[in-house]
Amino acid sequence: MSDGPPRTDGSLLDLLQGLKNPADGQPVPLDRKASRLTLDPEGTLTGQLAVAAPLTREAAARIEEEAIRRLATIPGVRQARIAIVAQAAADDDSPSPADRTAPAAASSAGLAEVRSVIAVASGKGGVGKSTVAVNLAVALAQGGLAVGLMDADIYGPSLPLMLDRREKPRVDADRHLVPIEVFGIRTMSMGYLIDADKAAIWRGPMVAGAVAQLLADVAWGGLDVLVVDMPPGTGDAQLTLAQKADLAGAVIVSTPQDLALIDARRAVAMFERVGVPVLGIVENMSAFVCPQCGHEAHLFGHGGAAREAAERKVPFLGEVPLEMPVRISADKGRPVVLSHPDSHAARALRNIAEQVGTRLANPLSYIAEEAP
Ligand SMILES: Nc1ncnc2c1ncn2[C@@H]1O[C@H](COP(=O)(O)OP(=O)(O)O)[C@@H](O)[C@H]1O
Ligand SMILES: [Mg+2]
Repeated sequence: MSDGPPRTDGSLLDLLQGLKNPADGQPVPLDRKASRLTLDPEGTLTGQLAVAAPLTREAAARIEEEAIRRLATIPGVRQARIAIVAQAAADDDSPSPADRTAPAAASSAGLAEVRSVIAVASGKGGVGKSTVAVNLAVALAQGGLAVGLMDADIYGPSLPLMLDRREKPRVDADRHLVPIEVFGIRTMSMGYLIDADKAAIWRGPMVAGAVAQLLADVAWGGLDVLVVDMPPGTGDAQLTLAQKADLAGAVIVSTPQDLALIDARRAVAMFERVGVPVLGIVENMSAFVCPQCGHEAHLFGHGGAAREAAERKVPFLGEVPLEMPVRISADKGRPVVLSHPDSHAARALRNIAEQVGTRLANPLSYIAEEAP
C-alpha cells in the first residue's frame, strides 16, 4: 500500500481536451463522468478513459498513445497505465446491457450460455488465490453481473469452507449438476463432490480431465462471467485446462516474496503461450495494517508484483493487504467484501473486480505500456 491516500484529480482530464480521433480527425468525445484518473504518491497514474463513441482498435491504440504522451508531461508522473473504454460499434453483436444482466434460468449445461470464463491462478498455493476468486465473484455480482464460481482446485478445494456449504449438489432431470447458489452467485466445487482425503491421490492428467468435465456437466445456465479458481501450479494440468476452458482472461495472484513472484511469472508465461490474455496481477498479503494503531508493515516485502507486472507488460490490478477479517470471515463462510465491506482489503478487492469487469465488458479496453 502506498503511504498516503491516492490523489484523484478531475483536472488531469482537462489535459486530454481536444484529443483527435485519427480515423476521422474529429475531436474524441470524452465521457468525463465515466472516466477516472488517479495519481498515487509513487507517481503511477492509473484509470480509464471513457469515450462516448465507437472506436476501432487501431484508433483506440493511437488515442491512448497520445493521452499517455500528454499525461506523462505532468510533474511527478513516472508511469501511466490507462484503459480506453469505448462504446460498442453498431455492428458489434454483443447483446444490450439489459440482455446481459437478465440471468437465464440455470438450466443449460456447460458453457454454452456463459459469456466469459476467467481463471484466477497462481504459480504457488497458499498465496490467496481462492480468497481473491471468491471475493472477485461476489464483487462482480454486486456490480450487477450474473456470476458463477467454479472451484477447480482439486487438491485443496476451498469453497465448502469459504462459503460454509457442505451439501451435495442436486442432479437435474438431464443428469446435470445444479450449482449451489450462495450470495447471489452459482457455485460448484470439487469439495462438494468428493472427500478431501480422496482428492489427494489425483494426478495431473486426471485433474485437467475432471475439471473440464465439471465445466461441461454443471448446469451453469446463462452467466456473464464464470470465475474459475484454478489448481495451483503451472504444470500440464493447468495448461490443458487453460486451453480447454476457452478462457477470456486470467488474473494472477502473488504475494510479494521473490519465490511467489517467480511462480507468478511462470503463470503469466503459461497463459500467454496459449493465447489467454492476462487481465492482470494482484499482490495479496501486501501490507499488514495494525488494527490498533493503523501502522503499515510490509511483512513479505512490497511492490514486487507491480514491478513484475510492469516488466511483463501486463496490468497491475492492485494490492490486497494482510488483514485479520479476511481470514476470519473466510473461515466463517462469509467473504470479506460482504462481512467487512469498508476494510482496506474489501476495498482493494472491489477495485480489482471493477477493473476486471471493465475489461471483460469492453474488448477495446486494455492497458497501455509504460509511459515513455
Ligand atoms: N489478504 C489476506 N489477509 C489475511 N488472510 C489472508 C489473506 N489472503 C488469504 N488469507 C488467508 O490465507 C490462507 C490461504 O489463502 P487461500 O485463498 O486459501 O490461498 P490459495 O487458494 O492460494 O491456496 C487462508 O486461510 C486465507 O483466509
Ligand atoms: Mg485455494
